Amino acid sequence: MDFKDEIAKEIAKSPQGRDAGLCADEIREMIEIPQESRMGDYAFPCFRLAKALRKAPPQIAREMAESLGGAEIFERVEAVNAYVNAFLKKSALIGAVLTAAASERERFGASDLGKGRKVIVEYSSPNIAKPFHIGHIRSTVIGNAINNIYAFLGYDTVRVNHLGDYGTQFGKMIVAYRRWGDREDVERRPIRSLLSYYTKFHEEAERDPSLEDEARLAFARLERGEEAERALWQWFRDESLKEFNRVYAMLGVSFDSYAGESFYSNKMERVLELLREKNLLRESEGAQIVELSDFDMPPALITKKDGSTLYITRDIAAAIYRQEHYGFHKNIYVVASQQNLHFRQWIKIIELLGFEWAGDCVHIPFGLVSLDDGTMSTRAGRVVFLEDVLNRAIERTREIVIEKNVNTDNVDETARQVGVGAVIFQELSNNRIKDYVFSWDKILNFDGETGPYVQYSHARASSVLRKDAAALAAALADAAALAPALRESESAYALAKLIYRFPDAVREAGEKYEPSIVTRHVVDVAQAFNRFYHDERILAEDETEKRAKLALAFAARQTMGNGLRLLGMAAPERM
Ligand code: ARG
Repeated sequence: MDFKDEIAKEIAKSPQGRDAGLCADEIREMIEIPQESRMGDYAFPCFRLAKALRKAPPQIAREMAESLGGAEIFERVEAVNAYVNAFLKKSALIGAVLTAAASERERFGASDLGKGRKVIVEYSSPNIAKPFHIGHIRSTVIGNAINNIYAFLGYDTVRVNHLGDYGTQFGKMIVAYRRWGDREDVERRPIRSLLSYYTKFHEEAERDPSLEDEARLAFARLERGEEAERALWQWFRDESLKEFNRVYAMLGVSFDSYAGESFYSNKMERVLELLREKNLLRESEGAQIVELSDFDMPPALITKKDGSTLYITRDIAAAIYRQEHYGFHKNIYVVASQQNLHFRQWIKIIELLGFEWAGDCVHIPFGLVSLDDGTMSTRAGRVVFLEDVLNRAIERTREIVIEKNVNTDNVDETARQVGVGAVIFQELSNNRIKDYVFSWDKILNFDGETGPYVQYSHARASSVLRKDAAALAAALADAAALAPALRESESAYALAKLIYRFPDAVREAGEKYEPSIVTRHVVDVAQAFNRFYHDERILAEDETEKRAKLALAFAARQTMGNGLRLLGMAAPERM
């Protein structure tokens, strides 16, 4: 039940709403949700009605409050200054929450808003033969959550990992491997080995510049598809992916497509043709560029002097391919804010090419992560592998699980779910654009606004629900009828209100590409649930009261569980 809609209709019907000539949709947009519950569940500001009604806003508010007072859905309506504050009948809201959770369950909060629309979510996109480090966690985890949210809102999503698997650096890698490489080494520790050869290449090339020529030659052979170079490159890619996939498995992240930069290497000619057709290419010192000074941007380098294409050329080709292949409604890129200019440039070029879908390509930037832990500093030039961070989170959580004597029959599994979950949750706690400091103490605090805290609250709700399965089954079969039994409980109503708003929070998170809205909402629900748990005896003597409370605990558990899963976390039943 959409109470905002109901209230908008009531206001539209009231003499004040009618005389001001406002329709229900306009009114709906004006309705606010007060910060404090003593200001009501919903508030309507009367300022905009003053002109049409030729009255002062506080007077309009007083009159409107009076005319709304009799409506069925309100417990009471009050005027405070220029605002009309409406208090819903508690049992109406609680009843709506209990029935929705009991009937929708895993789908509570979902919608079919995006039905029939394809959304591409590109995320993670690491570079092969390069470390998958702590910085990559951001794109991976934020992108995964955005994908889950869009899928939950009914969009048909395609998860793309645009691997950095092409470019002149692979010429260097091939030369380096041939000189100093060892097959077994690579198979044992692919990325660490390949990286060490690559570093050596740069050291040696300082002394012996002919290495650079050799590398260019190797890359040219790779581009022509010569067997030997192609096989080596493929092998580097496969070995790197094995390592990435280990981390993806730990994070519970997967993809529908790994079409990365190399996938577009044979689609470059088409891009150049299109650019030429529109007369967008200029020559500059042998290179081909697109001039963007009219848009306050430096020129985009499309091909180098030797004719080789660049990162941006492949992004242009990728967008065109995706539009032709998938016909997207939106094409979302979850990529660090350092690449803002790159995205502004190529999306502008797509627009200059006359593709009207340029505006459907959306760059979703995010800030930097740094580490508070001296031993893991990246400043010292040491790379912090994401896999090591996750393993450490699991290890530390394991210690806590044992020390706190956490209720579980599988310590390893719980340590994994909670440890990895803690890292994910912290990642999604702040607005994505903010830089943040990774702090072990903060993320593993079971009492703070953390992943473990929400998971623990979820497990606590699961545990109370297990205590009386028969009463729970009866409660869920007839949830609406139970609402009056909770009318008197402050903490029950506060919890129900938050559960009621969960679907809106999911929708807003999707609109703003901001998973932290879901994160914060589940923290609020967990806190409200714990207050309810503390204030009320859920397994009450009175059968109706017990059922009502179980139905609400069920709704809380479902909301926390659905929220955690959207964020890409596990929701353990026991903890
Ligand atoms: N591989 C790039 C990097 O690690 C990120 C790719 C982002 N996606 C894109 N379509 N350009 O910096």
